Amino acid sequence: MADLKPFTFIIFGGTGDLAVRKLIPALYNLYIEGNIEIPFSVIGISRKPMTHQQYADFFVEGVKKFSRNKYEEEVYKKMAASFYYISGDLQQDNTYHNLIDILNKVEGEEKNRLFYLATTPEFFPVVVENLTKHGILLKGAVKPWHRIIIEKPFGSDLESARLLNQRLERLVDDFQMYRIDHYLGKEAVQNFLVLRFANGIFEPLWNNKHVDHIQITVSETVGVGNRGRYYEHAGAAKDMLQNHILQLLSLIAMEPPVDFDAASIAAEKVKVIRALRLFSENAIVRGQYQGYTAEKEVDPASTVETFIAAKLEIHNWRWAGIPVYVRTGKYLKEKKTEIVIQFKNTPYNLYKNNNIGPNRLVIAIDPKTGFDLQFNVKEPVRGDVKIRGVKMNFCHECEFGDNTPEAYERLLLDAILGDATLFTSWKEVEYSWMLAESIFAQYEGQMPHIYEKGSWGPEEADELLKQDERNWYYGDLRRNNANPCGNGCIQKQAGI
Ligand code: BG6
Repeated sequence: MADLKPFTFIIFGGTGDLAVRKLIPALYNLYIEGNIEIPFSVIGISRKPMTHQQYADFFVEGVKKFSRNKYEEEVYKKMAASFYYISGDLQQDNTYHNLIDILNKVEGEEKNRLFYLATTPEFFPVVVENLTKHGILLKGAVKPWHRIIIEKPFGSDLESARLLNQRLERLVDDFQMYRIDHYLGKEAVQNFLVLRFANGIFEPLWNNKHVDHIQITVSETVGVGNRGRYYEHAGAAKDMLQNHILQLLSLIAMEPPVDFDAASIAAEKVKVIRALRLFSENAIVRGQYQGYTAEKEVDPASTVETFIAAKLEIHNWRWAGIPVYVRTGKYLKEKKTEIVIQFKNTPYNLYKNNNIGPNRLVIAIDPKTGFDLQFNVKEPVRGDVKIRGVKMNFCHECEFGDNTPEAYERLLLDAILGDATLFTSWKEVEYSWMLAESIFAQYEGQMPHIYEKGSWGPEEADELLKQDERNWYYGDLRRNNANPCGNGCIQKQAGI
């Protein structure tokens, strides 16, 4: 184990969904697998009245349901014996006095503190201001260390994100801020960096000479549930595209970093995000699932999108001219996060009677994890050559089993150990908002296309690719191998 010192984990929004579904199950997994050791304490802060014991018990069902490892009562009880709870208003001094009292009680020599801001975003600066005012969080604290993890959304537009950052920067140093994007903690996301940078065969092809286009799909089968109020201010663009999708894209498209430390990776990712533009004016399709306006806390006349597809371009030497199609939405047909790198066709088709499908590298992130490399082979039939697409597959689960650490486990442990590599730097956030704003400007006030629940979103999203003689990849090799425009098109794409 790396240099792990006793620490206190303080969760603002301590009884929220995130704590129940992700944070405490993640902590439990880290503990049961011996990645973190007692002594460490958890202090939850929220409005609900509750005793310390009730707070410890509050997570039992969540751990049973959401933890990767089986619930073991003895283990959980041992961990939860150092759970504490404060019921309080985040704007009141009293809440922070109570926090000091508990810290005095639980901390020994080491006063390492990890603060998790899992409240609604308007409280982020309020909490940090109060923590510093009461001397609980010290600017520049390294030994003992004081760090804050800030949940998304970091701001609601460029201006509010800048204001938030300025406010926080006055209170703590940048190295103490861990802006979380949980997609970066997903195993497959880290693995595609290995795929790119620990293999020699892909990098020579990783550019506009050999790649035809890139697709990123982040689809969900659930709706907004009870998050209507938040979602009305976010929509799919702010909830998923501005952060998760741009983060995935930046890792896929970045130059090899000089090292794998936080600063080197952030430097390369920023360059990609800075270079992103909409491909053209009509490069966005927005959708709203049928029935969204009847959801709890949603405006019956809402124009908020629950689906967005966009065609982007990375304005740099490596990627200029290559479309990057991205889409995300709620209540879609399938839950998946997937990146497709589609390579250019052969310059000329020698097999005239065949529609030769493209070579693709499919990077499956969630829920399936693995890589497919697709290419063409001859079917063993007599007579004319018949070609079909096949794939070489790496399946994470088949190779390594199905008990891989989840994103929040990895990210919490990294924050405890002081490694910010898988967190987002301020510049990435800032440039992501710049791009997002250029997207919002295209559709302000417009009504999105209505789509059926369980579909792949509005048909217009298919048109976005069809007009370029391309298709979204739906995972079906044979269907997708049918080139929408035949051999003539292959030659056209190859510039012949
Ligand atoms: C969150 C979004 O950041 O990511 C949610 O706010 C979304 O709306 C969730 O459902 C998806 O995460 P995952 O890991 O299930 O793909």
